[in-house]
Amino acid sequence: MDSLDIIRMGQPILRAVASDVADPADPAVRMLAEEMTRSMLEAPGVGLAAPQVGRSLRLMVYRIPSDRSGGETVPPSVLINPQVVPLGDEIEFGLEGCLSIPGLRGMVPRYRRIGYRGLDLEGRLVEREAEGFHARVIQHETDHLDGILYIDRMVDLRQLAFTDEVPDMFAALHSQSIGRLI
Ligand code: NI
Repeated sequence: MDSLDIIRMGQPILRAVASDVADPADPAVRMLAEEMTRSMLEAPGVGLAAPQVGRSLRLMVYRIPSDRSGGETVPPSVLINPQVVPLGDEIEFGLEGCLSIPGLRGMVPRYRRIGYRGLDLEGRLVEREAEGFHARVIQHETDHLDGILYIDRMVDLRQLAFTDEVPDMFAALHSQSIGRLI
């Protein structure tokens, strides 16, 4: 089966508030989640939200590879109708990209620690706490369900660069002493 086309920034569906999934156990929902997981792994990416493949539904897939998180690993997972709450008010800046904004990376502030909950494909409650990269991925993907892209969260667009130019961006920011946040 062909992998799903990933929709790029500019398409209105990426700016829409997605609808709740009515029945997480619907086989059509499982098929969508499986196709999204395949697309995420092929991209490769660490997360993908249903609006990014043209479905305005509150469903996301994600994974936390150990090389990105300092050891913590989460296998490819599905989260339906997710809710996120900050745990504490600590904010951390980190570099993000998005499969809908190919070729770019930007520094984005996120809550360092969160609690999140949602449903799995059997309709069972999933409830976790996360921090660091794991928390960042969940916040990024949940934002997609509300029509929010990571660039909307940026506080300084000088911290947006083409992926290849990121080292030079950091060097310039540090040399100008405007990179205190990073
Ligand atoms: Ni994204």
